[in-house]
Amino acid sequence: AQAQSKLKAIKAGRLVDVVKGTVLTNQIILIDNDKIVDVGPSLAIPQGAEVIDLSNATVLPGLIDCHTHLSMTPGDNYYEDIFRKTPIDKAVVAHLNTQRTLAAGFTMVRDLGGSDLIDVSLRNAINAGTIPGPRMLVATFALSATGGHGDLTGFSPEIDWKTNKDYTGIADGPDEIRKRVRNNVKFGADWIKIHATAGVLSEEGSAGAALYSLEEMKAAVDEAHRWGKKVAAHAHGAEGIKLAVLAGVTSIEHGSLLDDEDIKLMKKNGTWLVSDIYDDDYILSEYAKKGYPAKIIEKERSVGKLQRENFQKAVKAGVKVAYGTDAAVYPHGWNAKQFFYMVKFGLTPIQAIQSATLNAADLLEWKDRTGSITKGKLADIVAVEGNPLDDITILEKVKFVMKEGSVYKNEMAK
Ligand code: ARG
Repeated sequence: AQAQSKLKAIKAGRLVDVVKGTVLTNQIILIDNDKIVDVGPSLAIPQGAEVIDLSNATVLPGLIDCHTHLSMTPGDNYYEDIFRKTPIDKAVVAHLNTQRTLAAGFTMVRDLGGSDLIDVSLRNAINAGTIPGPRMLVATFALSATGGHGDLTGFSPEIDWKTNKDYTGIADGPDEIRKRVRNNVKFGADWIKIHATAGVLSEEGSAGAALYSLEEMKAAVDEAHRWGKKVAAHAHGAEGIKLAVLAGVTSIEHGSLLDDEDIKLMKKNGTWLVSDIYDDDYILSEYAKKGYPAKIIEKERSVGKLQRENFQKAVKAGVKVAYGTDAAVYPHGWNAKQFFYMVKFGLTPIQAIQSATLNAADLLEWKDRTGSITKGKLADIVAVEGNPLDDITILEKVKFVMKEGSVYKNEMAK
């Protein structure tokens, strides 16, 4: 017997067509199970279809955040977070992070590093329908040089924070790096994340120092590619960005201090820029209160403003940009706050929306399945009141969320 199909019809007052870059009015979207089967202005609604009335709303493709850390829950105290939380403390609350992210309209994420393989468990539980959340592509343990952004630096050497070294991403030299990549893939990684440079929210001296050699990064990329995986590189400093791009990574994360040469190389190689340009505000207003050491706050001051200016430069030069926020730096569910900054620093509102839909799906190699409201794609659909092209901050208040044809949230006023 034929499976009973679940038909839904969405009446969209306005629909953001991210492929054409325009807003259409009075559209009907037909959904069968998890897929969009038709979109158009005057489609007949089949008998028995469930009608979802969004005629007072603007309907958009589900949003995609290409840089989250859903297994990490930002706490109120730096030392508490580092030294007292067990893997179980982190795991039991992580489903709240996935739910908040989905409720904010983000139907897919690339989760770029987590502890204890909680990311793999979240992804699997979401895919099985056990807990609500965005579709996740996960990176498991981020690869980092000893003493780098992924290590624990600044404390007594007697504090050995990981006894099982297969349970970290610390790796030095091409051989160890290959081993870590293999280990990550074995445990379920969809992407490989490397720390090409030092970072801000960790105690090593510099934020931007290039901490992996070209040879090391080439090993990471080559090994990842053997397994059919792509590499995302955390990189603040210009030299580290350059080496990562030359090594063949797919995206540069943060990109704070990128220079003209980096821009040229990224354009030439088609490397994506995923820059978390909201976070500076949150860190400077909240992190001192949380007990973060002054040197970390100082590092933020040294890169935050430049990151925004350099983002604008890269946009002007035509570097490919995808939306990614480093969620966990700020409370989960606030992912859309970055839209405002993307528009302030160079993108038009439609381009900002494209960065979180069409472009993000392209970076994630999911373009044929999501990223636009198009016949044949998954029904990942969100809606807001008002028109986000007039006021991009409207995206911070998503009222309707459908993921793969299932309605997760509908707070649309009738
Ligand atoms: N995870 C990043 C790091 O610690 C966060 C950087 C946040 N700051 C910023 N301006 N985007 O390096």
